[in-house]
Amino acid sequence: MSLEGTSIEYEKLTFKDSASPLTFKKVSHKLPVSKDEIAVKVSAAGLNPVDLGIYYTFHPWVASLFPSYRNLGRDYSGTVVQVGSDLKSQYFVGDKVFGYVPTLSTGTLAQYLFLKPKTKHDASIVRVDQSVTDEQLVNFAGIPLVFLTTVQSLSVVPLSDKSRVVIIGGSTSLGWTAIQVLLNHYKVKPENLVSVNGSRSNNFVQELGVLQQNTINYDQVDSIQNPVLDKAKDGKFDLILDAAGNSDLFNHINEILKSKEENGHYVTLVGDHKPVYASSLLARLPSSFSSFKRFIYWNLIGGGPIHYQFRNVHSSKKDIDLAYRLYKEGNYKVIVDSIYSSEEVTQAYKRVESNQARGKVIVKF
Ligand SMILES: NC(=O)c1ccc[n+]([C@@H]2O[C@H](COP(=O)([O-])OP(=O)(O)OC[C@H]3O[C@@H](n4cnc5c(N)ncnc54)[C@H](OP(=O)(O)O)[C@@H]3O)[C@@H](O)[C@H]2O)c1
Repeated sequence: MSLEGTSIEYEKLTFKDSASPLTFKKVSHKLPVSKDEIAVKVSAAGLNPVDLGIYYTFHPWVASLFPSYRNLGRDYSGTVVQVGSDLKSQYFVGDKVFGYVPTLSTGTLAQYLFLKPKTKHDASIVRVDQSVTDEQLVNFAGIPLVFLTTVQSLSVVPLSDKSRVVIIGGSTSLGWTAIQVLLNHYKVKPENLVSVNGSRSNNFVQELGVLQQNTINYDQVDSIQNPVLDKAKDGKFDLILDAAGNSDLFNHINEILKSKEENGHYVTLVGDHKPVYASSLLARLPSSFSSFKRFIYWNLIGGGPIHYQFRNVHSSKKDIDLAYRLYKEGNYKVIVDSIYSSEEVTQAYKRVESNQARGKVIVKF
């Protein structure tokens, strides 16, 4: 596969504001690629709830302050089709890759991506084995953002095979990634891992290795506080990882989590409340205020009884390489909810918005 000519025209998903539809727009890129650049023909892009937060943030009056077309998507997989002269010893035409870009200026929902892998921005890219099938390559687009977020949040905690962990949101993409990484990579024992998930997802998390007696159904109780307190009778936890958005445990956190001196960590990836995916990121700020206050007082000033962190994903070559290593070892699998064609991108985002997707929603090009 190669690119010919002095420029290429291709389609990229754009939107103007949250009142206008998602549309593919023709854009062009100069060829040959610059010496530090590679061109990737995209196989698939993975969707994430944050894309919806960004889309809904650009309410028409907000968008009117920044008039422009915007892109969506951070995860991708595809095939290298042109390589800049400086990168000829590292990348080859025909290489299969997947990766993550941290900002929307790139927008992975596009037929082609032009990446500079030596820059921090585009560094989270993995060359996979040539034996990878087209179907596997499509599924790899579901890995980057959730894997990076999960391993980065686990890496701030001193975990061992003796650690006791609660995952709030065990069936979210962050949650099922954490279950696999904790059991298979950190060798946490199943009896020490508790998943909080909806009752419809019990079988789903149990197939990943969570024990039946260690599943707590958030939809069967007013608060998860008492069931988690009950589990803490077998020993306080080392880590609570919140991948859904919850604040039920703080009134009794001393009885649930080990103290700061014993390295008890509460890591949230969401905040105190489960967000409505079809809402502006700005509208979510007041509901995040309590967790930000706790983050500042407990973590930065150091006044709290435990370590408390509000984590956000960042680009990392090392972490994305770990994803592929664990995949190849059979210690991590990407779970796919559904695959849509690029013409069906609006339906694909509706599937994410439903909050019922169990696994990644992927758009195939
Ligand atoms: N901080 C960061 O850098 C970062 C990075 C990625 C994602 N996030 C955030 O993390 C959250 C999860 O993202 P994701 O992509 O992993 O989610 P996701 O895959 O879209 O999660 C969907 C699942 O959430 C479960 N769920 C719905 N309501 C729940 C509740 N009240 N409590 C627990 N689980 C519930 C549903 O299953 P059941 O109801 O059947 O259990 C559903 O299958 C989102 O809010 C996202 O914005 C943050």
